[in-house]
Order: sequence, then C-alpha cells, then structure tokens
Amino acid sequence: MPKVVIEKLQKKKLQKEIFVPGDKSISHRSIMLGAIANGTTEISNFLMGEDCLCTKKAFQSLGVNIEEKAGKIFIHGKGMAQLTAPQQEIYLGNSGTAMRLLSGLFAGLPFDTCLSGDESLSSRPMQRVIKPLEKMGAIIESNDGKAPLKIKAKAEGLEAIRHESKIASAQVKSCILLAGLNASGITSVVEPHKSRDHSERMLKAFGAELEENGLEVSINPESSKNLVAQKVTVPSDISSAAFFLVAAAILDDASFVLKQVGINPTRTGIIDLLENMGAKISFANELIVNDEPIADIHIESSDLKATEISGDLIPRLIDEIPVISLLAAQAQGKTIIKDAEELKVKESNRIASTIKLLRTLGVDVEETADGMIIEGKGKRDFELTNTCFDSLGDHRLA
Ligand code: S3P
Repeated sequence: MPKVVIEKLQKKKLQKEIFVPGDKSISHRSIMLGAIANGTTEISNFLMGEDCLCTKKAFQSLGVNIEEKAGKIFIHGKGMAQLTAPQQEIYLGNSGTAMRLLSGLFAGLPFDTCLSGDESLSSRPMQRVIKPLEKMGAIIESNDGKAPLKIKAKAEGLEAIRHESKIASAQVKSCILLAGLNASGITSVVEPHKSRDHSERMLKAFGAELEENGLEVSINPESSKNLVAQKVTVPSDISSAAFFLVAAAILDDASFVLKQVGINPTRTGIIDLLENMGAKISFANELIVNDEPIADIHIESSDLKATEISGDLIPRLIDEIPVISLLAAQAQGKTIIKDAEELKVKESNRIASTIKLLRTLGVDVEETADGMIIEGKGKRDFELTNTCFDSLGDHRLA
C-alpha cells in the first residue's frame, strides 16, 4: 500500500484533478439490496451505465418502485416477499454481474424468471452458477450452460450448501450468498483466492448476518431476512480510474489526482502493481463510506520497470489487465502475466484481444496458456504506434 502523504504537487505541464464515475460492482449491488430491503434506499453517485441500468430495470419488472431524482436513485423496497412475477423475460444486456448475481437471488423465488442478454453475454459460461444453484435445489434451464437462463419457481425455497469454488470469482460467490438468503440453513462459499468483497460489506451494512473465516464466507438466512434500507454513496470506480493512473504514469510531465476513488483492498491490485513497477503514487484524504474505504489517488509521470503479475494479485486487478498491458509495454523489461485464464471468458477473450491490441500498437508480446509475456522497451526508447483498433464491443479494451 502506498504511504499516506499529502505532498505539495510539483508544477507539471499536464496537471489534472479527475472525478471518474461510480463503481460498477457497488452500483449493481446497491440496487439489488435496496430492492429486497424494507424502506427507501437512497443511492448517490450511482453508475448510470447500461449494465447497472439493466439491474435497475430488472427489479422494476419485479414490481419494485425505483425513482431517479436529481442524479440520485431512490428504491422503495418492501422486502423480498413483495417481489412479483415479471411479465416477460429480463434482458440484462452485456452484464455478467447482473446475470450471475440475479440468478442466485431469483433461484429461490416463488415465480419463474428468465434472464437473457446480448450476444457476448449469451456466449459466457453460466455453469459456474447453475451447478451450485442446482445443488441448492434450484431448477434452471439453460442453452447448454449459457444464457438465456430459465429459472423455475421454488416456493419452498432452497437448501443451504457449502460450495468450494475452483475460481476466485466475486460473481459466483455473490450469487451463492444471495441464493443463501432464500435457503434453509447456513450457506458457505470458499474460494481459492480472495475476490472482491463488496457483496459481503454491503450485505452486512443492510443488516445481514455474515461470517468470514479466511477464504470462507457464510450467510445465515434467518437473521438476514429483514434487510433494512440504507443511504449509499457509491465510491468512484478504481477500474475507471485505472485508465488515468496508467495515462499519468506513461505520459511525460503529468500529475493527476483521482478524487474519492474506492480503495477496497480486494480491488487495489493496480495500486500495488504501479508501486512495484516504480510509479510515484500516493493516497490522501482517506475515508470510510458505507463500509468501503475511499481516497484521492495522486500519480505522476514515472519510469517503470517490468514485473510479474500472478497468483493472489490476479483477482485484485482482473478488469485492469488490458490497460496494464500498456504500462508493461512502456516499462523496462519483460512483464509476465500468468494465472489469468479467467480473462478468456470476460466480455471478450481478453488474452487474445489484448495481445491483438498490443501488436497493433507495435509491442512485442508472446501468448501463453494463462496470460502473456510483454516485452517492455521503456518509454524513452519506444513509442506506441498510432492505430485504429476494433474493441470487439468490450469496454475495457475500448
Ligand atoms: C465483478 C466480478 C469480476 C469482475 C467483473 C465484476 C463483480 O468477475 O471481472 O467485472 O461485480 O462481482 P468474476 O466474478 O467473474 O471474477
């Protein structure tokens, strides 16, 4: 972690204070928990992007009154029992988070739901949630393990399980914990490395009883049924800040302050990585808001050295790997990215698409089974080539 220092900013040619939009993962979860809690949940700095708006629409189609006023979202929740059957299938666009979390939440409801998505979402693996949900007694029809997911009514609720996940995935973990709200008994999830823990933090803030023991999280549905509405301020998204962090580091004579960014330790892999690579980076004005730590992040132009990105670090920066590849290209030496097979099943195959992008920019890169090796030549000796690139509809690449 960077030292907390409030330094005098040196005068730089490109000096910026930047507010990036609200965190996507936290925005989704704030709608979900607000919709099943009792009372009015007020959300500030909600990310009004298409993915989170799909989650909002999903609950409106289940009869929840959700309003937007002066840039804030107000959810008038009446508890899980008041959700009503939707008239048609629930379209979730491009959002893997919406589909996987909602499949868990809806699997124990007393009416049918059908979750569908765009072409990219319909090609992403859903067995990782279908299998454990089926163990809990859910009945789900899929298109050979992919969306659309037809989830059958389960008036009697689900059975608790202890699920040992082979992958570190917050979507899988959250799906099962949310399904656990409608199960009889204590549901637990164990993962191989810690994935983002926004669901755990927010469930607790809304009044759920959650226990964490190392890499195992358990939820008790009895004391978690009566969730209570909250005022939520969504931190700015570190995954969006990442683009500016990388830009400042690789540009000459730049100094950026990214304001009020979420620095939950399960998401700050990019900060640790920048530090390891030699970037000048520090935090100021650290605060805790709704159980989530936030800070202003200051970063300056830096000379970077190559590093290895693997193991526990991967889930802490999984979404930032496309932009991190540019850091590696501008660093001195070989950066090795491994243990990152999960990149193959994101909005695009992000190993293949990131390598394609790097090659278009003139970077030497080798593909490996679980990542890539990027040959960095240092920013003084190597300039990225101007190019035109097809982002394949993947926002992290665009
Ligand atoms: C997310 C979890 C991560 C991440 C995704 C958002 C979430 O996916 O890549 O962008 O909000 O839970 P996995 O759970 O598949 O690792």
